[in-house]
Amino acid sequence: MTILAIAMQKGGVGKTTTTLSLGVELGRLGRRVLLVDMDAQSNLTQAVGIDPLTLTQTVYDLLLEPSREIGQVVLTTAYGVDLIPATLGLARAEMVLAGHVGRELLLRRALSGLVEAYDYILIDSPPSLGLLTLNALAAADAVLVPLQSHVFALNAMAHLEETIRLIQQFHPRLHIGGIVMTMVDRRTSVNMAVDQAARQEYGELVYQTVIPFHVKLVEAPAVGQPIQRYAPGSSSAVAYAQLTQEVIARHG
Ligand SMILES: Nc1ncnc2c1ncn2[C@@H]1O[C@H](COP(=O)(O)OP(=O)(O)OP(=O)(O)O)[C@@H](O)[C@H]1O
Ligand SMILES: [Mg+2]
Repeated sequence: MTILAIAMQKGGVGKTTTTLSLGVELGRLGRRVLLVDMDAQSNLTQAVGIDPLTLTQTVYDLLLEPSREIGQVVLTTAYGVDLIPATLGLARAEMVLAGHVGRELLLRRALSGLVEAYDYILIDSPPSLGLLTLNALAAADAVLVPLQSHVFALNAMAHLEETIRLIQQFHPRLHIGGIVMTMVDRRTSVNMAVDQAARQEYGELVYQTVIPFHVKLVEAPAVGQPIQRYAPGSSSAVAYAQLTQEVIARHG
């Protein structure tokens, strides 16, 4: 069983898209997959066609009460993966949980009972290095970093590494499992320069597969479908399938 946190504090770099596309592909390959939405924006929840307003139990309830029967909070989706959903209410977590002892370990404790039930747990994190991201990192075996090939991407990477080092003080196994270049337009020289710089700095950690900029990936979440359903065989569906093969080769 592998738990991956998909994290990068920069907003809009493809965290949620990567969590969903990778998760659904792993499911198609027969892996038992659980997705966890740790973002109050609840984009992941909505991207599988679930309306957060209809939910009575979410990841927030788990964080408040990690010993809760987790089965009550896990939803089955139409796309071969399970989901622990989020709503806007999760935004309260940073404040409400601020005084709790071991507040970074709440998700890890909540997920500990699921180790047998899944092959992969993928945790989507919000665009910050706050408590929710810390919980995602502390619960994970490895971090999967989507890197948008823009000018400041590598600065953001340095901040994330600093945060990972903090978590390593009590969770030494945590490491960067891989970096995936997202929204790449091969005609844009900045994109290609950042891609090259990332490979120079992080070597093998950067996946060979790059995710192209593709408008279908903008449209798919609007209709609540993963790319495999919305545009099967499209360049981005193929790219995520290739990325999934690399992830499996690395993590089993
Ligand atoms: N490869 C891509 N090509 C084009 N659009 C993309 C691609 N990947 C993601 N998008 C779109 O870009 C936007 C941001 O992507 P996404 O929501 O996955 O990023 P995020 O890192 O999760 O954002 P946030 O930090 O707000 O959680 C979304 O509208 C998504 O549909
Ligand atoms: Mg997101």
